[in-house]
Amino acid sequence: MMTPVILAGGNGVRLWPLSRRARPKQFLSLEEDRSLLARTLSRLEGLPLAPPIVICQEAHRFLAAEQLRRAGVQGATLLLEPEGRGTAPAIALAALLAHGEGREGPLLVLPSDHHLGDEGAFREAVASAARLADRGRLVTFGVVPTRAETGFGYLQAGDPLGGEGFVVARFVEKPAIERAEAFLAAGDHYWNSGIFVMRPADALAALATHAPMILAACREALAGAATDLDFLRPVEAAFLACPADSIDVAVMERTDRAAMVPLDAGWSDIGSWQALWEVLPHDADGNALQGDVVCEASRGLLVHAESRLVATLGVADLVVVETRDAVLVADRASSQALRGLVDRLEAGG
Ligand code: GDD
Ligand code: MG
Repeated sequence: MMTPVILAGGNGVRLWPLSRRARPKQFLSLEEDRSLLARTLSRLEGLPLAPPIVICQEAHRFLAAEQLRRAGVQGATLLLEPEGRGTAPAIALAALLAHGEGREGPLLVLPSDHHLGDEGAFREAVASAARLADRGRLVTFGVVPTRAETGFGYLQAGDPLGGEGFVVARFVEKPAIERAEAFLAAGDHYWNSGIFVMRPADALAALATHAPMILAACREALAGAATDLDFLRPVEAAFLACPADSIDVAVMERTDRAAMVPLDAGWSDIGSWQALWEVLPHDADGNALQGDVVCEASRGLLVHAESRLVATLGVADLVVVETRDAVLVADRASSQALRGLVDRLEAGG
């Protein structure tokens, strides 16, 4: 049986001012009345799965617990990081925990910030991935790229694996734009979806080979972990001493055990206002409007009004986000660059 591992420790800064340190995007209802985390959980309904392991920051434990309760999830373990150290330590903790509990079936590692249009196709891909993981593979899902995106990892498909997927011939995390363009042109490269399927023992073996310091720190942190209701707290000093890295760089770029299952399920990482605009319903002028909004002679807008009426006239391709204490007006195409602006605001202007 598979164990879902939900990664919910990110900060989501590129969706400022809706996404804040105190309440990052995975806890927000961006597309509908359920949060991204709740949607991730509901995607698992009906699959034969053990109770999930949810990993998030200590500061967000009650937000996460509330989402689990609302989604009707029973028996989950909430692993709390005092501070994020990236996805490699998070997955290391989950693999150690599952292995220690004798849960040897594959982990289904899910980011909590994705949109998936076709859940049936997703489930089929997960079933293929589970079969490959049972043969010792570290499986990821490949999405056909539609643009030269530098915010994603790229996989090159190698030899086929019995109709289920492919060997990953090469994995390149977040390439520079020139390489991303070359990968797009080559036609045999996919985006890494960031969803992984691997058995705990195989994940631990790969970490031991490619990221031994991360594994050692996480092992020490978990060995002395304290349980408090559904919360599990690794030893703070040991965890904070863990090197920070993503699973993509720490393991996936280096291992020769990686496999890829193609995923054609309307996948999108809701990482920016542009990405959110793409998955939201639009009016005839391409405007995606949320809240009390009136637009005239406007097109290609994403407007979110939280506490006041927002009206636009004669503008195009903007993002306008009104919240109680901050308003963002941005060029929609530049919304990836928001991270720099937020860093500046946090530094005090
Ligand atoms: N628990 C925990 N701790 N979760 C984390 C941490 C952490 O330190 N850091 C990130 N996460 C969570 C985020 O909340 C998100 O759900 C998921 O892990 C992925 O992290 P991102 O920070 O969103 O990664 P990314 O989008 O830049 O890159 C990854 O996903 C891309 C596709 O969306 C990589 O796997 C890329 O290769 C991939 O293309
Ligand atoms: Mg992401």
